[in-house]
Amino acid sequence: MIIAPSVLSLDYSDTKTQLEKLKVSKATWLHFDVMDGHFVNNLSFGPHVLNTMKKGLDLFYDVHLMVSDPRFFSKSFIDNGADGITFHYEVMKDENDILELIDYIKSRGKKVGISIKPKTDVEVLRPILKYLDLVLIMSVEPGFGGQAFIEESVGRIRQLKKMITDENLSVLIEVDGGINEETGKICKEAGADVLVAGSYIFKNDIEKAIESLC
Ligand code: DX5
Ligand code: ZN
Repeated sequence: MIIAPSVLSLDYSDTKTQLEKLKVSKATWLHFDVMDGHFVNNLSFGPHVLNTMKKGLDLFYDVHLMVSDPRFFSKSFIDNGADGITFHYEVMKDENDILELIDYIKSRGKKVGISIKPKTDVEVLRPILKYLDLVLIMSVEPGFGGQAFIEESVGRIRQLKKMITDENLSVLIEVDGGINEETGKICKEAGADVLVAGSYIFKNDIEKAIESLC
């Protein structure tokens, strides 16, 4: 299981100590929730923050764009060190629009993912699945950390897993929102490959919490 701690829940008054703990933990990814105050009712951070956090950490920088203009932000986050970009299905015009952005991200040598909100039908992914490295299933409404896991997400993970297996693809399933030891285990059983967790990791003993999700 790949664990991606979400820096949205970092205590920014003591960033260094927490990043040191991540260094010795079993986490191999770091999840960046980028919010523009438009696609979601919250603002988070820009590319410079990612850039400064790259120092001394050998992790996969997993950028989750919760923004209305993912084309613009893909470029600036890649320029500042993103290893993977995930954008939202809901903000794209049509399939061509999606394929163009996928091509751009791949042309920069980065991994590409699409995220769907809890109410978006998993079936919409079928035609584009083969072009993706990962799908991010939102298990809370995007915008804020600390929300409760939406139980229906489990069926959505299973449905997506079946789609990936039936088509013989190697797309990763990432789950984001309300993940703790209990919900993490359920997602793992349903077919998740990557677990994003914010509050559960940073409001507890960081190393132990990560270990419990592995
Ligand atoms: C929500 C974000 C999540 C969030 C997860 O919009 O996409 O990544 O940080 O936070 P927790 O683990 O606290 O639900
Ligand atoms: Zn996220």
